[in-house]
Amino acid sequence: MLQDKKVLFSGMQATGNLTIGNYLGALQNWVKLSDEYECFYSVVDLHSITVRQDPAELRKRARKLLTLYIAAGLDPDKNCIYYQSHVSAHAELAWILNCFTYMGELNRMTQFKDKSSKHADNINAGLFTYPVLMAADILLYQADVVPVGIDQMQHLELTRDIAQRFNSVYGDVFTVPEPFIGKVGAKIMSLQDPAKKMSKSDENPNASVYLMDDPDTIMRKFKRAVTDSEGVVRYDEEKQPGICNLIDIYCACTGKTKEETEREFSGKGYGDFKTAVGTAVVDRLSPLQAKMADLEKNKDYIDQIIKQNAEKASYVATKTLRKVQKKVGFPERVR
Ligand code: TYM
Repeated sequence: MLQDKKVLFSGMQATGNLTIGNYLGALQNWVKLSDEYECFYSVVDLHSITVRQDPAELRKRARKLLTLYIAAGLDPDKNCIYYQSHVSAHAELAWILNCFTYMGELNRMTQFKDKSSKHADNINAGLFTYPVLMAADILLYQADVVPVGIDQMQHLELTRDIAQRFNSVYGDVFTVPEPFIGKVGAKIMSLQDPAKKMSKSDENPNASVYLMDDPDTIMRKFKRAVTDSEGVVRYDEEKQPGICNLIDIYCACTGKTKEETEREFSGKGYGDFKTAVGTAVVDRLSPLQAKMADLEKNKDYIDQIIKQNAEKASYVATKTLRKVQKKVGFPERVR
């Protein structure tokens, strides 16, 4: 592997249908950064079972997600795209890091609080230690940078704390990673309630635009998006959170700035603006959807990527794991 490039790690859960929040907040940046870094992109299926899953459905979604990474533009020959569950080092390092993480730290995680109120009948230990597994994902590959949406920042900060704590005891074992948050699209909000994050698990299908939605559905969802009575396309977070969200989506899809967008729609009504945002999203997603349909026909190609990349990821991850095991005092393996 090329050691002159810095390392990037990121991952997504294969639960629910991916939204444009996942795409604009994360996946799109992954593609932009992929030439510059040595990249590891994981389908984090170990994280998915912190919430009850239908096994056949999880397997299907995980494969779709892995295929989607490629359809979005990540070259699997240059980027290591793999299933987290195929690399046992993730779970092994997570155990060790559990012993370097405090209950108080995990208690403060807002995602744990959110998820435990949503799944009150299944507040399992995995849900609680979820961020430690995430730290293991990142630290195993000695990642310098981790591109994520704003909602994952708290987990990233904890990862940095765990890495620094471990390093302060055992020397420089882990690279302390930096988050990478995109300038636009880092927090896409629900189309039905702009105070809430757009989420795969939202029960209202009109709240989220899914990556596999067809053009008519996308246009319809934008037409129904909640706005305000100001009647001006202006970036005013306090008074016009719905319009701000639509501007963010438009900018993230077209590369235009907020100011350019305000100028473009000055004097125009919300109807025109919503149509333009819908069209920009359709234009962004159409090539990805076409590529996805193509790739899904090519089972052998995807199978080969799954196998090769799991081996590559295991090789890199095991190197770090062995170093950590030695540092904490586990006996050396007899060859
Ligand atoms: P997940 O699967 O919830 O989301 C995947 C990525 O999408 C981003 N994202 C958003 N960005 C902008 N607006 C939104 N509405 C929006 N919703 C989601 C997320 O910030 C994330 O970058 N715990 C992680 C997965 C994970 C991971 C890791 C990420 C596991 N290990 C190591 C980075 C590094 C998660 O559940 O993401």
